[in-house]
Amino acid sequence: MADLPVYTDPDPTGAELLATHPHLRMDATCGLMLEGVALNAIADAVGTPCWVLGGGTLKRRLARMRAAMRDAGLDVGIHYAVKANDHLAVLDLIGREGYGADIVSGGELARTQKAAIAPARIVFSGVGKTDAELEQAIGLGIGQINVESAEELAIISAIATRMGRTARVTLRVNPDVDAKTHAKITTGLAANKFGIPFDNALGLYARASSLPGVQALGFSTHIGSQILTTGPYRAAYARVAELVRAARQAGLDVSTVDCGGGLGISYRTEPEGQPEALAGAIKAELGDLGVRLAIEPGRWPIGPAGVLLSSVILRKEAGMDVPFVITDAAMNDLARPSMYDAWHGIVPLAPHAPGQAVAATHVVGPVCESGDTFARDRLLPPLARGERIAILDTGAYGSVMSSTYNSRPLAAEVLVEDGTWQVIRPRQAVKELWQDEIIPTHATEQA
Ligand code: LLP
Repeated sequence: MADLPVYTDPDPTGAELLATHPHLRMDATCGLMLEGVALNAIADAVGTPCWVLGGGTLKRRLARMRAAMRDAGLDVGIHYAVKANDHLAVLDLIGREGYGADIVSGGELARTQKAAIAPARIVFSGVGKTDAELEQAIGLGIGQINVESAEELAIISAIATRMGRTARVTLRVNPDVDAKTHAKITTGLAANKFGIPFDNALGLYARASSLPGVQALGFSTHIGSQILTTGPYRAAYARVAELVRAARQAGLDVSTVDCGGGLGISYRTEPEGQPEALAGAIKAELGDLGVRLAIEPGRWPIGPAGVLLSSVILRKEAGMDVPFVITDAAMNDLARPSMYDAWHGIVPLAPHAPGQAVAATHVVGPVCESGDTFARDRLLPPLARGERIAILDTGAYGSVMSSTYNSRPLAAEVLVEDGTWQVIRPRQAVKELWQDEIIPTHATEQA
């Protein structure tokens, strides 16, 4: 496991991080607050590690996306990417606020139904949907299936025909565009497994338009995640627009373009992606086609809304050049740093004066892998045993990617809404770790 990347510019200070996270505030008495609620009060009651999600922040960010599209004069359906955070409380909020959902599995589909999101507002993406998942989706009459290959199109046609139904589909096009993001989360290059090769898309669309059991709506694309500039979007949408025009010229109906997700947030010092700029890119490339548009954002609306609270188990200093602060959260809780070398802000919960002395610190979890590292050489105030920290921007791809590796129970989850908070998932009990495990009955010796 490589060390975390070395940045050439200085890390943001705690105060700078709070300035880019308006829902967080340092109170001189209570310490770090999220949407007006003291995080220490939550940690006192629930313990750590604990995920805390700001529902108001999620709503505000979704509303900003909606307004950005509307202000650009675009009719864009917002389908929240469930994979970013699939908690029922989140999906319930998404449904109540009138958004749709982008799903990638039968499990996610079932969650959206449990949260009463109308099937017509569901889009099904993913490179390998099983027959059972397709039957579930087609049976429910979901709004749209984004088809990822010629092979999958044939399977969908066969299943829908057998069921006596019509599946509404778009073809997900791989535009072969570099999203300029981490290699593990880029999806729009020809070498990636995603989407239909651009050169095959028109021919396949013609086929889709005449297949039984299928209604061809148009095209979709998704080029990757944590995208911070509009250049890659413009390039991808220009290619999709080319396809729409070519399809229409060939006499085919095109009513829909799904522009995918991917807008990035500010984890460190990078300026976050702007929904208004995304709206501008969509308008510039697709605005005059007269199609119904959609986006599938996950990280942007919910990433900054969440923090992971953790306590210092101990401080390992003796004989160390740089002290290790060992926290009760680990890579099994938040996988992003170990998986993508991701940088997450770390802010102590205790009230601390601006200008307090800081020193380089390694922040690590207790799991038996060197990759279980949240931060190296991070400038932090001295964090003693028992002190608490908030790891920022963990609302997306945080709790959803947790595991129980090292037999560590899943952390508690809390939702803050309207100035109050509620546990939305209690901490997993240790005995729940093995509740579904079966010790085989061993054949007794034959007498
Ligand atoms: N639509 C499709 C088809 C996707 O594959 C994804 C994300 C999204 C929408 C939402 O993308 P977003 O707006 O969240 O960037 N675990 C990784 C991110 C994986 C993203 C996978 N696909 C991480 O923690 O960075």
